[in-house]
Amino acid sequence: MTFHLSDTAYGTDTPAAKQTMYADLRSQLQGLVQGETDWIANTANFSSLVFNTMPGLNWAGFYFLKTQDELVLGPFQGKPACIRIKRGRGVCGTTVEKGEAIVVADVHAFPGHIACDVNSRSELVVPVFSKGEIVGVFDLDSPLPNRFDEVDAEGIGSLVKILEGTLA
Ligand code: SME
Repeated sequence: MTFHLSDTAYGTDTPAAKQTMYADLRSQLQGLVQGETDWIANTANFSSLVFNTMPGLNWAGFYFLKTQDELVLGPFQGKPACIRIKRGRGVCGTTVEKGEAIVVADVHAFPGHIACDVNSRSELVVPVFSKGEIVGVFDLDSPLPNRFDEVDAEGIGSLVKILEGTLA
C-alpha cells in the first residue's frame, strides 16, 4: 500500500504539499505552547497535534533520557508501547547515539528495530535537545511502508525546535 497525501486534506504528497502541512502545524503548535513552559503538558499536546493531523500514523510520542544510557517512555498517542530503551538500541536509541534524525523506510530492514506494534512498517525518529545536550527523541510510526522522507524529517525537526524553545 502506498501512502498518498492526496487522500487527505493536504491535496498531494508533493514536497510543497508537505511543507504546507508543516507550516500549518508550526502555527498551531505556536498557539498551543504560547506562554506555557510545562514540559509534560507541551509534549502531550505536541504528540496529540501531530498524531491527529498527519495521515498514516499509528504512533507518535516521546522517549526521554532519564539516565545517560536509557530512554523512558514519555507522552504519546497510539497503543501502549515499550517503556525502556537502552541508548544505542533500536531506532530511538540509535538516534540518541547519532544526535540526528533517522528515517526508516522499512523497519524490518533496520538491524535491532524494536517492534512495539507489529503493524508498524516505517518510522521517523527526531532528536530533542536542551541547552545543546540531547534529552530525548520524538518517534513516529506508520503502518505504511516508506511513509516518511527528508521533508518529514525537516518538518518534524522544525516543530521540535519550537518545542525546545519552551524548555527554558
Ligand atoms: N521502534 C522503536 C521503539 C519505539 S516504538 O516504535 C513506539 C525503536 O526501534 O526504537
